[in-house]
Amino acid sequence: MQNKQSIHGAWANRWIFILAATGSAVGLGNIWKFPYIAGENGGGAFVLVYLFCILLVGVPIMMAEVLVGRRGRQSPINSMREVAYEAGHHGRWAGVGWMGALAGFFIFSFYSVVAGWVLYYIAGMGSGKFVDIGSEEAGQMFGALLEDPETLLIWHSLFVVLVMMVIAGGVNKGLERATRVLMPLLFVLLFVLLAYSINSGYFAEGWDFLFHFEPEALTWNAVLVALGHAFFTLSLGMGSIMAYGSYMGKRDSIGGTVLAIAGLDTLVALIAGLAIFPIVFGNQLDPGAGPGLMFITLPVAFSQMAGGQVFGFLFFLMVGFAAWTSAISLMEPGAAWLVETLGLSRTKASILLGVLVWLLGLLALGSFNVTSDFLIFGMTAFDFLDFLTANIMLPLGGFFVAVFVGWYLTREMSEDELALRSSLIYQLWRVVIRYVSPVAVAVIFALNLYQKLVG
Ligand code: TRP
Repeated sequence: MQNKQSIHGAWANRWIFILAATGSAVGLGNIWKFPYIAGENGGGAFVLVYLFCILLVGVPIMMAEVLVGRRGRQSPINSMREVAYEAGHHGRWAGVGWMGALAGFFIFSFYSVVAGWVLYYIAGMGSGKFVDIGSEEAGQMFGALLEDPETLLIWHSLFVVLVMMVIAGGVNKGLERATRVLMPLLFVLLFVLLAYSINSGYFAEGWDFLFHFEPEALTWNAVLVALGHAFFTLSLGMGSIMAYGSYMGKRDSIGGTVLAIAGLDTLVALIAGLAIFPIVFGNQLDPGAGPGLMFITLPVAFSQMAGGQVFGFLFFLMVGFAAWTSAISLMEPGAAWLVETLGLSRTKASILLGVLVWLLGLLALGSFNVTSDFLIFGMTAFDFLDFLTANIMLPLGGFFVAVFVGWYLTREMSEDELALRSSLIYQLWRVVIRYVSPVAVAVIFALNLYQKLVG
């Protein structure tokens, strides 16, 4: 069983795996969400905690996910079952894979709506819709978009089709090809924008905001947000990384690879912050503007700067690429399972899943207009799907993977699969995955839920 291959294919080399997993990790979470939650939670204080969370919880759990995927060489559902059997345990562990596939389906439905906004902004920037606008106009334009179900529908549908095309292509002709084309472009665009913001004259203010640590600014809530976000941004807890790990080369080191992925993801989030905040400060805008930071304040800023239309277009193009490569990984666990278990072709699997996420996406989309009165626990469908996945399903998934790998796998299995150079590092990882990560996640999970439901 050690040298098994996945029936879906394998990444061409270690770097492709790193880039594909980075493509999954780097998405709306990094460019849209990270800057605004950092802005809302006091900048530097938040960033420091976030970095700790990535290292202490994110990296060890990502190693655990890759480990299970490569050991099982199948979709997360089937890998969890296989690896549980190999360790002498019950096949019920497949349930963690099931919950993950379902979470991917839920996340996709609202992720695709936000990605649709991004596509709309790419087109809008390109056609000059946002030239010479003030903040009031920008707010109205964003509001008008949300209230227009037809327009939202067009872009949401387009995004679903883009993802279906890649999934239909399979691991090598779909996922790997998208990775090879989109990831270099994403990095190039990111550095162009960084250079632009360095030259904006307000780089120091942006830097200071992100890295100036003020202990007073640190709140308990910021810690919660940071840990939850570490999960979301690294694509953990639902099997994205497990599925990608099942296509990874047997000889490649899991530890080093995961560090590279987490490092790149963090780097992109920080650079996105360094590209955005100088623009925000340069235009006397509010860094704590919340979710609208990217869709309202940035178009204003771009509209007032030299070359802003071009850079605005490039900026949203980059966000679109990032969202695309992330959404692929949300669908892959389900698609792989359909191919393995029901024997569907990749094309049929992608059509089936595409139609399902598109339908659920309609509910997420309608949350801003036609179905805004349809509330679940007092939340619109969009907010509920976000809450259910980010605050419940992902932490639970991550928790169970940590417990499974730390407590149920035999020591031989994890030691063999990780093949770490020093036994001291292995020992350290084992303590973290058995105690530190599950306890940290359980605490977040409980506090987050408590905060949301009670106070
Ligand atoms: N990590 C991606 C982002 O930051 C989103 C994502 C892709 C994701 N796959 C995931 C989040 C799996 C949680 C779980 O935008």
